[in-house]
Amino acid sequence: MKQDENLIGSEGREQWGSRFGFIMAAAGSAIGLGNIWKFPYIAGNNGGGAFVLVYLVILFSIAVPVLLAEMTIGRHGQKNPVGAFKALAKNQSWKWVGAIGVISGFLILAFYSVVAGWTLSYIAKSVTGSLVGLDPKELEGSFVAVLTGSFEPIFWHLVVMVSTVAIVIGGVQAGIERWSKILMPALFVIIILLVLRSVTLEGAMAGVSFYLKPDFSELTGKGILEALGHSFFTLSLGMGTMITYGSYLSKKEKLPQAVASVALMDTGIALLAGLAIFPAVFAFGLAPDKGPGLVFITLPAVFNQMPLGQLFSSLFFGLLAVAALTSAISMLEVVVAYFVDEQKWSRMKASIFSGAVIFVLGVPAAMANGPLAEFTIFGRNYFDFLDYITATIMLPLGGLLTCIFLGYVWGADKALKEVTNDNTIQFKLASVWIGLLKYLAPVGIILVLAKGLGIFD
Ligand code: TRP
Repeated sequence: MKQDENLIGSEGREQWGSRFGFIMAAAGSAIGLGNIWKFPYIAGNNGGGAFVLVYLVILFSIAVPVLLAEMTIGRHGQKNPVGAFKALAKNQSWKWVGAIGVISGFLILAFYSVVAGWTLSYIAKSVTGSLVGLDPKELEGSFVAVLTGSFEPIFWHLVVMVSTVAIVIGGVQAGIERWSKILMPALFVIIILLVLRSVTLEGAMAGVSFYLKPDFSELTGKGILEALGHSFFTLSLGMGTMITYGSYLSKKEKLPQAVASVALMDTGIALLAGLAIFPAVFAFGLAPDKGPGLVFITLPAVFNQMPLGQLFSSLFFGLLAVAALTSAISMLEVVVAYFVDEQKWSRMKASIFSGAVIFVLGVPAAMANGPLAEFTIFGRNYFDFLDYITATIMLPLGGLLTCIFLGYVWGADKALKEVTNDNTIQFKLASVWIGLLKYLAPVGIILVLAKGLGIFD
């Protein structure tokens, strides 16, 4: 790889302006609805603390090594996922792994943006006070109305896509990085405020112990696979997001440190989200196992009983919207980077075109729980179908092929040379990393895939 030096900033490719900016952008991608909406309820359904422990072990032994793999491939290739695999592999078929990623980007964002839209709808409801005074039954009705509406979900989906496109048009530094540097610190402040409010309520400790006290009797094989699947989703792995973000990283930055910061922040926010939610839920005697309705039904009921509830409700849904937006940005960037690098489109054209296509793909997802509920693909409504083929099939497949590519095709030597900045920095865990990527991660991912395909349950 003698052309290494020439790759630095090749073709005037944009780079992150600072290490802090890059970390905020990558953490912004990782920290999303997965952390705040999903993690607390799957932990709640799977034995609380026991699940959290298993999740941490899996996250650091399987998902984090894959995160480092993606960033390493990206920084070496200095391209979108399709271009990066083309640049690194002799056999050009590997570019299809990148292509699966780009296609996943279209499909995931189509429904992720719909959920992000629900959070905007809840900001509006909180700020205008339309949830105030509703009892839990009425709050459920109000969530069902958002889900099953025809105009409202499409409207908010449009708002999310327009905002995402507007930020991505700005480019790596002036768009993604600038906004991440504002939005992520805001997210940290809001979540800390919410945790402080929640754990100081009377009766909050019951919620803390529900969430953190390990109850291994509640933990099942299914729960462990759920932890594995979620560890992938939460770090935005399997579709080349981190390849793309890594491709804008300077050759001077230290990849292992960057990966560690992103993983720790992602974990920290997931844990804090549970601490913001469960103590309050217990303090007001509500059920902690409402699953997906936890943040949209149970929490508003909590806010209704809390002093300054309307303020905290607005803050909470603002937090959720920020988390969702910075993740949506990273999904769109994968697609845009592909059109810019491979098809030589302008960033403006690539952003508007991709955003418009994703908006259209998402419209049936916005209607899938309402007017289009009868329309099913393989027994799932359109929304659940998109979720299923991406999060359960395409992302694990992309992650698996990424491990195999790095471990067996591109090779440990070249990868380690990139990770250690040409042997100028130390990476003590080098052999552990390669071992985990070559053996443990593929086995774990194959189990998740097999379960997703219904081979066992
Ligand atoms: N990690 C985000 C979350 O937890 C979701 C996400 C963003 C994502 N970009 C991704 C998931 C790319 C998979 C692939 O909500």
